[in-house]
Amino acid sequence: MPSLEKLKEKLQNCKGCPLCSTRTNLVFSDGNPNADIMLIGEAPGADEDRLGIPFVGRAGKLLDEFFKKAGIDRQKDVYICNTLKCRPPNNRKPELSEKKACAPYLKQQMETVNPKIIILCGATALESFIKGTTISRARGKVFKGSKGTVFVPIFHPSYLLRHHSLEENSPRDLMLKDLRFIKKLSLQDVTEV
Ligand code: URA
Repeated sequence: MPSLEKLKEKLQNCKGCPLCSTRTNLVFSDGNPNADIMLIGEAPGADEDRLGIPFVGRAGKLLDEFFKKAGIDRQKDVYICNTLKCRPPNNRKPELSEKKACAPYLKQQMETVNPKIIILCGATALESFIKGTTISRARGKVFKGSKGTVFVPIFHPSYLLRHHSLEENSPRDLMLKDLRFIKKLSLQDVTEV
């Protein structure tokens, strides 16, 4: 997929916001650029910044466990990236100016991968695409995007690190249900949904 490689190269030299001067590594993507499912998270944390790969820290490992339980293969079934490609210092929330600077690159990733389903993982990713709702209300629902793609918001795994219950309708229970639903949806014609 040469255009993603070119985009990554371009981003290595991006000076669109000040985060380029504090990051260690650009965190562009992981997984399969030909996958039917794309996941958009918030921004790299310390482990991601160190390794240059999204979702490899504690939250990422928990996400992997949920993927496995839902029958989703991280390397084969999903293309994973973030709203921001560079780590905000001390893991603070991305600022609007940083999201605006990174948005054209994310858009190009979305257009090139052209997945059936885009998972909006957590509130930051949700807010960029679906207005006037919250992650608790929106998670597990299908929102129609343009060109036949659908968006499905889910909880961010860092939220699940603070909520351990597996009871019916607990955040972890809902996360597993949402990912199982997404897996099933990925096997369907989503334009019919
Ligand atoms: N949280 C995110 O949103 N993205 C990562 O890559 C890691 C943690």
